[in-house]
Amino acid sequence: MKILAISGSIRKGSLNTQLLKAAAECVDQGTSVELFDLADIPFYNGDLDGDTKPAAVQALQEAIANADGLLIATPEYNYSVPGVLKNAIDWASRPAFNSVLRGKPTGVMSSSMSTIGGARAQVHLRDILLATLTPVYLAPDFALASAHTAFDDDGQLVDEGTRKFLQKYMTGYINWVASH
Ligand code: FNR
Repeated sequence: MKILAISGSIRKGSLNTQLLKAAAECVDQGTSVELFDLADIPFYNGDLDGDTKPAAVQALQEAIANADGLLIATPEYNYSVPGVLKNAIDWASRPAFNSVLRGKPTGVMSSSMSTIGGARAQVHLRDILLATLTPVYLAPDFALASAHTAFDDDGQLVDEGTRKFLQKYMTGYINWVASH
């Protein structure tokens, strides 16, 4: 099984990217989790949205098409998702209602320094994915609070309970993807 992981943050030290790397360690050998970096995706522009799309957009669409499932981890920016992530979803959602996102089983996680772990952004993200006909894994949901204290220097989750819960989330999510 191939899972494509997308972080809503493109900065080097992103806690959401770290969360995806920790999630990748929770899957068994038959499953690969590959990160896709959104840094090269240009702003959506209808003039560029023809038969030939910008190379980074084509790469994103192909990566989604070739994956069995998507796993997104998003920060919260002003109670919603970062523009970088919304922009990538806008590109990936074309052509409308018949895009690579349609029917693609998707897990949604969030992390933030706040005590609610980006939960508001996560709710917005689920709403956005409704428009793209993307089925979202519903429960349990995973929001990493106080994310700036959650990882050690090796990128490992410090708290045993959090590690176990991420494992539970990933097991449920992978089984759900397999059922599609
Ligand atoms: C934030 N941050 C933030 N956090 C939060 O919990 N709620 C919020 O509404 C916001 N708003 C917000 C706006 C902007 C413009 C920035 C840059 C940041 C903090 C943010 O979630 C935090 O820095 C995360 O750690 C960013 O994720 P990465 O880059 O570590 O993955």
